Amino acid sequence: MNRSFLPILGVLLLLAACGGDGSESTAWTPVAEDALDAAQNAQRAWAFQAKDAMFEELSGTLMGAIRDSGAAEAIDVCRCEAPQIATRVSKEQGVTIGRTSFRLRNPKNTPPAWAASLVEAQAADNAYVVGADGRLGVLLPIRLQNPCLTCHGDPASVADDVKAQIERWYPDDEALGFAQGDLRGYFWIEVPAASE
Ligand code: HEC
Repeated sequence: MNRSFLPILGVLLLLAACGGDGSESTAWTPVAEDALDAAQNAQRAWAFQAKDAMFEELSGTLMGAIRDSGAAEAIDVCRCEAPQIATRVSKEQGVTIGRTSFRLRNPKNTPPAWAASLVEAQAADNAYVVGADGRLGVLLPIRLQNPCLTCHGDPASVADDVKAQIERWYPDDEALGFAQGDLRGYFWIEVPAASE
């Protein structure tokens, strides 16, 4: 194949891979929690159920890995498993779910377009946006708990082997230096429109 064509092909593939659900073309309107109608409240409950499922799988996997092989090794488990868990839970729950932050460890965890300004502003409360197509976007803050400090705490107190793994896999990491109770990031969930 003509070599000069390869970079263009790469860009096209990237666009195809990232532009998949077409959400970019949907207009999203913020809505207050107490202004959600009955159908939107059902979507909200669905989002929370998906979040609980994701949280349980993630923390089970992570805590199991720490217990079995130590925190440094668990970095690698989290690196490989977290995106897979998000994909699996999305399928099982019939939503699209992910984690994001204003200070990312994994640069792939950027927020969907509808959540970007809320994430950047470090919104402290649950936030909801309604898509023109009836989807509900839900953004749920995640606060740092004690066990998270092992991998997200003050660099001076994070173990050297953990820091080495973080540097190895996430050279642009911004997710050290959090304290207990800090806003660490968000779960974001896109719930389909209620079917008639
Ligand atoms: C064993 C180390 C480890 C522990 C413990 C840990 N994390 Fe992480 N965290 C990671 C790694 C590695 C990633 C990147 C994985 C990915 O692609 O989502 C990550 C990513 C995240 C993200 C996604 C945004 C980003 O920066 O990429 C959030 C949010 C997050 N962690 C919150 C937490 C919270 C809250 C806890 C405690 C309940 C916690 N983490 C415990 C290693 C850890």
